[in-house]
Formats: sequence, structure tokens, C-alpha cells
Amino acid sequence: MNRAITKALLDHYDREHRALPWRGCSDPYRILVSEVMLQQTRVQTVLAYYDAWLERFPDVEALADAETDEVLKAWEGLGYYRRARNLHGAARLIRERPDGGFPDTYARLRSLPGVGDYTAGAVASMAFGEAVPAVDGNVRRVLSRLFDEAKPPASWLRWKASELLDAERPGDWNQALMELGATLCSPRSPRCGACPVVEWCASHRAGTQEQRPAASVKAKPKKLRIELAVLEADGRFMLERRPSQGLLAGMWSFPEVGVGGSVLATIAERGLVATAHPAALPLVEHRFTHLHATYEPWLVTVATPDEGEGRAWIDPATSNDRAVPVAQQKVLALAHGHTAVASADPGALL
Ligand code: ADE
Repeated sequence: MNRAITKALLDHYDREHRALPWRGCSDPYRILVSEVMLQQTRVQTVLAYYDAWLERFPDVEALADAETDEVLKAWEGLGYYRRARNLHGAARLIRERPDGGFPDTYARLRSLPGVGDYTAGAVASMAFGEAVPAVDGNVRRVLSRLFDEAKPPASWLRWKASELLDAERPGDWNQALMELGATLCSPRSPRCGACPVVEWCASHRAGTQEQRPAASVKAKPKKLRIELAVLEADGRFMLERRPSQGLLAGMWSFPEVGVGGSVLATIAERGLVATAHPAALPLVEHRFTHLHATYEPWLVTVATPDEGEGRAWIDPATSNDRAVPVAQQKVLALAHGHTAVASADPGALL
């Protein structure tokens, strides 16, 4: 039965798969970049970044040679920035390998930063033809339905994925499973009528496909309100480099007002002098994985921009080469709009 399932799905993949830029190539670097970008991110979003990334960092050496700022800037907008830092770290480790080559087995790939079971399996199978499974969220859903297993444990998933694996074409097989999950075997309203393996699907037979896999109880994301000091001087806005650990590590953002602090104290702590009262800008919401942040930006004009280590004064009308998280870009646009209106018609905002 397993052979029949494997053949039916591979045949379907051969006929129907989407042409994606990382398919049909066996360059491990290109495949690793695609797989890291695709973690928690839709194909459509990745397509907007992938080619530009490869143009900028065409190989491991180019990425290893780059500065952290350049790497974060190229990743700007993709989110989950730790992935970019890990990819950068992985390129540097690969460059230092005694034989200078790309790690070419599941086990060696697995030891790179940011490379877990899934990514190691994907790269080992697609770039090196190693017969190892790659179980991501899509594959989990497909296997859970195929075998009508409501709560599939990780070890069971690896076992089932290994049993079905096509040893001749492991990379295509892994992608065929993912593709089925991404297209027909979708979380809601799966299109079982068009599925190439429906005749073997236990949950389809039992009518349980909509309930497979069972929903997991997720911890509620924490809600956090963060006041921001949006400091303006001569039409430019001050950003600071964030610490190298923690949320949005190494990126550039507006100073945060600490718990129990105030906007004016935050300004004073930085040796700056406010020349007007803080003005409230609209709130900006942003969802991180475990955190729903509400940014509360306060715009304040300060005297003379003070340049300093870890500080940048940004002109929002021109592009800049610092990596700024999406929510902070929104705040910057709001602040720019506000000051542009105020200077065109000083009475408008009073
Ligand atoms: N999601 C994760 N890896 C993928 C791949 N190689 N192709 C399409 N979607 C994916």
C-alpha cells in the first residue's frame, strides 16, 4: 500500500507542482536559504525576497563576509529575524569548516544554528539525495489525515514519513508531501475530490478530515503596551540599535519608555532636551509569536540631533540602510506624516 501511495503522490507532484525558484536546483546554499525563509512564512511572501537575497548574497562566502546590519536589512519585513542571524552564523561556520565544503548529511546540517529536524531533512534530501524525511506543519496535517491520527507524536510522524519516503527521489517526495498540504490538503475545507491519495486516506473514509489533526491548546499570547519616544530634530527621527539578544535583536527602533518611566525622562536619560510637549500618535499593533504588542508612540521635538554610538537620525523621505522592524516603520511613517502636516499648516494639529 505504501508504494502505491508514494507513486500516486509523486506522479501528481510531477504533473502539478508549482514552479518555484528553489526547485529543480541542488545547490545546498540556495535550498537552505529557501527553507529558512519558508519557516513560518508563506511562499508568496518568500518569493518577494528570495531572488533579491541571492543577488546580494549569491553564496556562502558572500553571506559570511557580510555585516550583521546588511543581513538584517535584506531580511527587513520577513519577520522572525533570528532566522537571519542564524543563517548568517551558519554561513560563517560553514566557511570555517576544515574541508571548506557545505555540510552534506542530515547530521552535519542539524548542527548548524537555526537548522532543526525539518530543515536538516529538507536540505539533506533535496540537495544531497539523502533518504530522510522532512516533517513540517503541512506534512503533519497530511499524515495525520492519511492515517486518521488525531494527535500524532513527533516520533510517529518521523516513522510514517520514513516509511512512505521514496528512496530514489527523497527531495521530490518531501516536497510532494508539503505541496499536498499547502494546496489540496488545506487546514479548512480540504479538496478531497482532487486528492491523488484520497483512496488511501483513513480520515476521508471516516469523515474526520476536518478534525485532523486535533487543534492543540495554544498558550494565549502575552499582551504588552509599549510607549515609544519618537524624537524629531530637523525633520529627522532618532532610532537606536537594539541589544544583540532578545526581541528584534540588533535591529533599529525608537527608544522604549521603561515601565514606570516617562517620555520626558527617556529623553533626558539620553542627554537630549525636549523643545515641545509630547504629542500622541495613533497606536500601532503588532503580533509577534508569543506577544501582541501595542505601541503607543509619543512624538517630541528635541534640540539639535546628537549623533552617538548605536544611534541614528533617519530622514523618512530617503531610504536608509538600517534594518527597521515593520511596526517601527509604521510609526516612522505616522510621525513623518504628522510633522509634514504640522509644518505645512501649523494650526492644523492644535
Ligand atoms: N515550504 C517549506 N519548504 C517548501 C518547499 N521546498 N516548497 C514549497 N513550500 C515549502
